[in-house]
Amino acid sequence: MCGISGIISNTSVSRRLLDSIQNLEYRGYDSCGMAVINSHGPIVRKNVGHVAEVAEKELFTSLDGHVGIAHTRWATHGGVTPVNAHPHTSCDGTIAVVHNGIISNYGELKARLMKKGHIFRSETDTEVIPHLIEEYRKGGLPLERAFVAALNELDGSFAVAMVAAEEPWGIFCGKHESPLIIGLGQNENYLGSDFNAFIEYTKNAVVMEDGEYAIITHESYAVKRMSNGEPVNKQVMPIEWDAEMSKKGGFPHYMLKEIHEQPRTVIKALAIDENAIINLARRMIEARRANVTGVGTTYYVAQLGQYYLASEAGVSAPAVSADEFLEGSAFGPEDFILAVSQSGETYDTLRVLREAKRRKTRTAAMVNVIGSTMARLVDDVVMQGSGPEICVISTKAALAQMIILIRIAIEAGVLTGRITPADRKQKIKQLEALPDIISGFLNEYSGFVHTLAQRTAHHHNWLYLGRGRYYPIALEAALKVKEVAYLHAEGMPAGFLKHGTIALIDEKLKSLVFVPTEKEEELYNMTMSSIEEIKARGGSVTAFHSSRTLQRSKLLDDQLMLPAAPPLVAPLVSLIAAQLYSYFAAVTLGKNVDKPRALAKSVTVA
Ligand code: F6R
Repeated sequence: MCGISGIISNTSVSRRLLDSIQNLEYRGYDSCGMAVINSHGPIVRKNVGHVAEVAEKELFTSLDGHVGIAHTRWATHGGVTPVNAHPHTSCDGTIAVVHNGIISNYGELKARLMKKGHIFRSETDTEVIPHLIEEYRKGGLPLERAFVAALNELDGSFAVAMVAAEEPWGIFCGKHESPLIIGLGQNENYLGSDFNAFIEYTKNAVVMEDGEYAIITHESYAVKRMSNGEPVNKQVMPIEWDAEMSKKGGFPHYMLKEIHEQPRTVIKALAIDENAIINLARRMIEARRANVTGVGTTYYVAQLGQYYLASEAGVSAPAVSADEFLEGSAFGPEDFILAVSQSGETYDTLRVLREAKRRKTRTAAMVNVIGSTMARLVDDVVMQGSGPEICVISTKAALAQMIILIRIAIEAGVLTGRITPADRKQKIKQLEALPDIISGFLNEYSGFVHTLAQRTAHHHNWLYLGRGRYYPIALEAALKVKEVAYLHAEGMPAGFLKHGTIALIDEKLKSLVFVPTEKEEELYNMTMSSIEEIKARGGSVTAFHSSRTLQRSKLLDDQLMLPAAPPLVAPLVSLIAAQLYSYFAAVTLGKNVDKPRALAKSVTVA
């Protein structure tokens, strides 16, 4: 999604503004731009394409000035064109604005402003903002009041930053339902839609809340309420991530780096305070109805959680995709909703949580981004501590969330009396063994996965099948290969196949089956039946499994033998294999791994 950056300094800012939006590229974008204030007012440069290319073409770094804002745009209103890229300016060009979010009443504002003679150049919703500010200025309001009056007219979601010729020493900004964070440096201050915008320069941040605006100079910042202009006392928050964590560290892509970081991610997830985990387990049990929600990958994480909560603890906590939650679920003050989100900013998930707040439903969230909207909105938050996930495709953050949900399920099992203290110890030990299993797998099996991908990635149609806990894994694995390698893969319960979809089986449709361990005898046998059914219809089966018997079976056309792992964690090993497969499939097919088409890192729009 769009990224905002701003720097106010007493030295030139354009070079660092460029670095800053490059650090925001991972959020997903299609065009970018910059406005730097000099003695003539804001000078705007913008275009479509990759930041580096646009920067070169538009000579970003030749802009000279001490105050500037920059933007990466992910198109929502209006096509991907140079003129739709941000910043947008007022008619007289003295006010330049960048915006993240969607202004739902822009149509009527635009019509009103056009009637008053404002000339619009773009098709964006954003452009109403500079014109609205200009209109209030013409009406006699001083700049600060004109800025706030304009923001108060906007419906929808926004994080806005403005520079203006008449007050060239600072940046004005404000937000509602889209993130905005101020960074505090030495003789210079920063603005960003997330920490990555300025993490190279400072680790001190001030997180803005909805309904707040701020005026930032190189040596001060003042946060005030949009409703009445009263000052707000803000806490300075230290950022625990460092810039090094956001670098590739020798890996060709962030996705591969982040897959390899997973042993560490698991260790971090296991180090989360036990009391926080028990607290969530208790909430699950005590609620009249409990649901887990997320969207995309985090919905599949939630689904995996549902399976573990049911099987380990006898707790029913159906996973509901956040984008459909409000339309398909009933909930009230006695219920509990646990949201899962890497970014903590996802529109669909926030929509559920905001409505839950309104209905006085108890909420909790598991998030990775410190200071994110979700982290601040819910009653209880668990920070998963996975470190920055830069690749748009979620890997390590999802695994950490799965570990945390398994921990919640185990603690819920203890609370419901299904799991004895001795069993609990055993299960925690199995989780603790996972980092070594993952490291071993990544070191020893990567080559096999790579060869498998080279052999099979040219097949465009796949069924990804799994039973029980392997079903959400199949779903998530299918999403991975769709979003990064653009292969069509339909995730499905293996048992569901025979109820219709089996009609599609032929020699062209490939099936990837996630086979449970032989220890899970019933599930294993049922999955084998599905494989037999596919083979009987002339289908082709690739299996991810850890079974010595299956290794020798003539049923498989292709296979990846996984390291042995206890049933509690074996599905997670299959997932890591699938992440790696998707990665190598994308590389084999020459795709843009870290910035796949159409997907953004935090999806903040409806
Ligand atoms: C998949 C992916 C998306 C996100 C989804 C939710 O790799 O990245 O499907 O999982 O947009 O995002 P968060 O977790 O930030 O709420």
